[in-house]
Amino acid sequence: MLIQPGMSQPSTHANALQAADHAVKGDDLLPESLHRFLACATPEAWLQWALENPETLLIDHAQCEKKAASTAMSLLYRYVDQPLLLSKMSQLAREELLHFEQVVGLMEARGVAYQHLTASRYAEGLRRHLRSNDPERLIDVLIIGALIEARSCERFACLIPYLDEELAKFYRTLVKSEGRHFEDYLLLARQQTSDSIDERIAFFVAREAELITSPDTAFRFHSGVPA
Ligand SMILES: [Fe+2]
Ligand SMILES: [Fe+2]
Repeated sequence: MLIQPGMSQPSTHANALQAADHAVKGDDLLPESLHRFLACATPEAWLQWALENPETLLIDHAQCEKKAASTAMSLLYRYVDQPLLLSKMSQLAREELLHFEQVVGLMEARGVAYQHLTASRYAEGLRRHLRSNDPERLIDVLIIGALIEARSCERFACLIPYLDEELAKFYRTLVKSEGRHFEDYLLLARQQTSDSIDERIAFFVAREAELITSPDTAFRFHSGVPA
């Protein structure tokens, strides 16, 4: 069960979101820097959508953890001359794979079958703006990494009050690690140049907010709002 027994079912009442009694307010767990970083909060329409699709949420969450590990691994291969990047990305890849195992374990325990899902438009919608040559390309990849981590963290925090105790507890641990990953990506991005990257960050933050607030066809962890 994703939703606490006895909770209102969001599919039947447009504004039936109702927090479970046990839940810590998820938002309280978010670092202040992350609140300032993202241009918008997760729309309530996405939250409703997520609670109506608990199995897809878990499957796509597993996919996201696997993809996060894979992104970190590809950076490990490509930038062998950067010691801080190597140590941060190696640690991050291990943590993401551990999260992956934890989500798959939860899916098994809940009888959720792991099936292939198409990727959401989100990551590609950000990556299409990548510049082609380093260091600009790497800076963009790292900024996008920071955004994906920050949004994941914010979404976990959003969901926590509406989840059953077991999942809420797990997501609280994820809020902490994804919040740290967000900081690491941002630090690495800033390290690539002595120039300010604030304008580039602002550009991607704006694109990300467009993806999060605009209509989307399929529900995924990083979807926009239902079309
Ligand atoms: Fe993760
Ligand atoms: Fe992460």
